[in-house]
Amino acid sequence: METSRRVLLKGGLLATGATFLPGMTGPPLDLRPSAAAQTPLDNPFSLGVASGDPSPDGFVLWTRLAQLPLDDDGLGGMGQGVRRVEWQVATDARFRRVVRSGVSRTGPEQGHSIHLEPSGLEPDRDHFYRFRLDRHLSPVGRTRTAPRSTSVPSALSVAFASCAQWEHGWFTAYRRMAEDEPDLVLHLGDYLYEYDPGFEPARSGNVRSHEGPETVTLADYRRRHAQYKTDPDLQLLHATAPWVAVFDDHELTDNWAADRPGPSTAPGRFDDRRTAALRAYWENMPLRRSAYPQGPELKAHRRFGWGRLATFHMLDTRQYRDQQACGDGMGTCEETWEPTRSILGEEQEAWIADGLRTSTATWDVLGQQVPMGRLELSPLEIDRLSMDSWDGYPACRDRVLASMREATNPVVLTGDVHDAFATEVWADHEDPDSVAAPELICTSITSNGDGEDSPDGSYRWGRTNPQVQFWNDLRGYVALRFTAEELRADYRSLPYVRVPGAPAFTRASFAVEAGSPRLHQVG
Ligand SMILES: [Fe+2]
Repeated sequence: METSRRVLLKGGLLATGATFLPGMTGPPLDLRPSAAAQTPLDNPFSLGVASGDPSPDGFVLWTRLAQLPLDDDGLGGMGQGVRRVEWQVATDARFRRVVRSGVSRTGPEQGHSIHLEPSGLEPDRDHFYRFRLDRHLSPVGRTRTAPRSTSVPSALSVAFASCAQWEHGWFTAYRRMAEDEPDLVLHLGDYLYEYDPGFEPARSGNVRSHEGPETVTLADYRRRHAQYKTDPDLQLLHATAPWVAVFDDHELTDNWAADRPGPSTAPGRFDDRRTAALRAYWENMPLRRSAYPQGPELKAHRRFGWGRLATFHMLDTRQYRDQQACGDGMGTCEETWEPTRSILGEEQEAWIADGLRTSTATWDVLGQQVPMGRLELSPLEIDRLSMDSWDGYPACRDRVLASMREATNPVVLTGDVHDAFATEVWADHEDPDSVAAPELICTSITSNGDGEDSPDGSYRWGRTNPQVQFWNDLRGYVALRFTAEELRADYRSLPYVRVPGAPAFTRASFAVEAGSPRLHQVG
């Protein structure tokens, strides 16, 4: 670990102060108080800082100004004013070597968020960044450029997670992920939940409450994002590594599909609600400016590389899917098997097929939301399958698996189900020799509250799921390490989330050798 990273984690990170920024370039700073109406009384960086979507020469840097994050107009107490925010990028945590700096403006149109895309930076190295508004300095964030596309990195560490219901527990798992100091964080959806306070009780009881009603309007979604971003554990993880995030359903509403709300959602002007939710998502995540939503559409599927070691294909299984078959139930019907049904939409199917065919990376990683491999939800073989997962879109899955055969080492990463699974995607669910890819499913950060450990890690419905090698119901995340020879996956678990400060431990470890899609338990 580099010393500067340790400095960051040990207290530099969340420190703010009024120190003059050494080496700041750009327009001269006027340190006198500005007009009273524009002078923030409280820290405007209460939501922290973030970075994302790394490339070999840059990344996205994010912050969002909010002096009063929970204000019900969603503007975080920043009102209608437009503000100038100064920023710096350095190659050291003390900002002695500033390599980029400037001034950016933001106002209510952007939800007072900043999305910067510094470019021309040195590949494959740590960078540090911070913002300043008037006399307030933001926390310092650490991020990283990706290696050059032609380089061969010796290793890459990635942590991935999903499903963080604010009310169900403390975000300690995010803090434990930060302490691992991964090169990269993947967030696979359900970054927040739309529900009314107390609407969804966890088994272990709710530990805190959502502010405001079920999110429907832009103001509601902005305020909900702000509430989640006040969490110090979440802020720490955002400030520790670049994120690549994709949304699932709860960033908008339960089990939505393209232009329709899920069956449990009251009908209404869904197009307006989707527009509001995705706009707030863009404003609150470190996404590229080119991803700014066009009406109700936010282009989230995208690809990025880590030299020749790995290519990441991030999928969007919500915006372009056909509606769930059979009334979105737990079981198949004739509709399930219709050959034209798709969970990705025609264009994204062509995009992933092309990406897998042309990739030259050692590992082709599909980062996506809902279980891809078959998951029988019954001890009996009765096709009790979730119509919201790929099991509800078998023809589309077959097409993607056919494309995967052209990739060198495909790996599927999945969120959604609030339990950890180490499993395999089989092309034919009755043929153990038809393994197409390993599928690593993270559990939730908090959703469902405290879980229970399983004595031997076997799935409760293991008899009908021979493809599942490990299952666990504790909260946590998955830590990955890619090398040219092997992918190693550590399933990290927390004994509880109802009380803050739980330790994390490795509940099970798996390996995939380059050249074979099979998963092996190694610990
Ligand atoms: Fe979830």
